[in-house]
Amino acid sequence: MLSQAIWYDQTSKRGRPSRTVLESRHRLCKHEAKTKAFKDQGSGGPGEPMNQAQATETVPRPLLACEGVSKHYGAVAAVSNLSLDVRPGEVLGIGGPNGAGKTTLFDVITGLTALDQGRVMFDGRDITNAKPQTLCHMGLVRTFQLNAGYDTLTARDNVLVGAYFGHRNIVIPGLRLSAQAKRRAEAAMDLVGLADIRNTVVKTLPVYQRKLLMMASALASEPKLLMMDEPVGGLNPHEIDDVMKLVERVRGAGITIVLIEHVMRFLVALSDRVMIMHHGEKIYEGSSAGLVRDKTVVEVYLGTGASLRLKNLIEERQAR
Ligand SMILES: Nc1ncnc2c1ncn2[C@@H]1O[C@H](COP(=O)(O)OP(=O)(O)OP(=O)(O)O)[C@@H](O)[C@H]1O
Ligand SMILES: [Mg+2]
Repeated sequence: MLSQAIWYDQTSKRGRPSRTVLESRHRLCKHEAKTKAFKDQGSGGPGEPMNQAQATETVPRPLLACEGVSKHYGAVAAVSNLSLDVRPGEVLGIGGPNGAGKTTLFDVITGLTALDQGRVMFDGRDITNAKPQTLCHMGLVRTFQLNAGYDTLTARDNVLVGAYFGHRNIVIPGLRLSAQAKRRAEAAMDLVGLADIRNTVVKTLPVYQRKLLMMASALASEPKLLMMDEPVGGLNPHEIDDVMKLVERVRGAGITIVLIEHVMRFLVALSDRVMIMHHGEKIYEGSSAGLVRDKTVVEVYLGTGASLRLKNLIEERQAR
């Protein structure tokens, strides 16, 4: 919720790896990446030539696609004729000034707000104006700009809600939680590093842990796509570094990620591609490096000082 892109110094601390269900997905993801690497090198596998069908396979269908999406609030065009593809396995970063329409875009994709025009596709299905719970069961989940959770429940019970009700449609809730739901909840808490505070009542937790809790609750449903709205807004540099490592672990578990963030070092370090919005429109889509060379982005969002620091950071990272 800042009017300009934010800059923080870098510091670091080690995070904890997941050891359960999500780790299996990590291994599977590595295997898929290896197979894709063979295909990208012009082979269907070790020693096999790639045929036409395999060549077509190397361009995967987008996991999420927005086609000409618009949303107005009265005279305000919060999102205006915006199209966007998110490929499986990638991290897409979204930035832009306050009021650019970033959260509204999340709201229309995730079924919280009805869109006026356009179409949204997820995993090959039309999900335009589908209900959030339907999308959650299909594997599309999100976190919020402001912390959301069940304040009077423990951290573990919050995550269990996601693990039990978020995984599939429960028509008649059982008297007991399934062992699978409990395992999903434990795996998600391990992945984000909340296992030690599982029995703490949520209203007593600091902002950082509440942010992690939202992520754990979303991850406990075992999504294909996780959308995060300002995951490090209001956090200190150490906490930001920890969330960066967490996002890498989530990506490593094979989960596609779309994140909105004003903290530019976080956005550029994690994103394979970046999109910048302004007045509901896409004004930039491409690499982080191209971002700092784009005159409009520098003018309406970054400012010259921040864009220079960002340019130096990108060059440092490329030199490593
Ligand atoms: N429920 C609503 N009713 C009326 N106007 C709204 C509503 N939600 C958003 N808007 C307006 O839509 C525009 C886009 O707002 P949105 O919250 O999507 O911006 P944002 O890019 O997420 O901004 P920030 O970086 O401050 O979070 C703004 O002009 C905002 O005032
Ligand atoms: Mg917002």
